[in-house]
Amino acid sequence: KIAENQPNFFQFSDENLNEAKKIINRYPQKKQASALMPLLYLVQKQNDNWIPLVAMKYLAKLLNISYIQVYEVATFYSMYNLSPVGKYFVQVCTTTPCMISGAEKLVEVCKNKISRKQNELSANKKCSWIEVECLGACVNAPIMQINEDYFEDLDKEKTDEIIDMIIKDKFP
Ligand code: FES
Repeated sequence: KIAENQPNFFQFSDENLNEAKKIINRYPQKKQASALMPLLYLVQKQNDNWIPLVAMKYLAKLLNISYIQVYEVATFYSMYNLSPVGKYFVQVCTTTPCMISGAEKLVEVCKNKISRKQNELSANKKCSWIEVECLGACVNAPIMQINEDYFEDLDKEKTDEIIDMIIKDKFP
């Protein structure tokens, strides 16, 4: 879902612009469009886990490709968030191995502490959560991902502790 309230400015920080240039240089001349996916990811990382439309336009200019090329990639993949998900974006795996190991307890904690419904920001706007399919770490089920980190072998107590921290704007 694309956010209704859009910021009207985006640019990479100096550090991320350097990183973007390094990524672009991995690809042959005139094939810079291939850098689009990692650059969308970099935007998301800089912008509290979501990609505004103005950043898509910024990337189109940076890569010298059309806005629609950026837009169609950003809107196709579910790994790109197109509306605010909070500084702490929690993805709870509810596929079978996690489900039979107690994923519903993790979902319950998210419902009680973050927001009743998926994809809704917490009252302080710092966090949101969603259910996702297998995150590829079934051996340590049940698991959840917060931004780029995995939290494994969870139970209700551990999940409570972790979610309490992110609600207080502290990364566990
Ligand atoms: Fe949850 Fe695979 S089923 S990580």
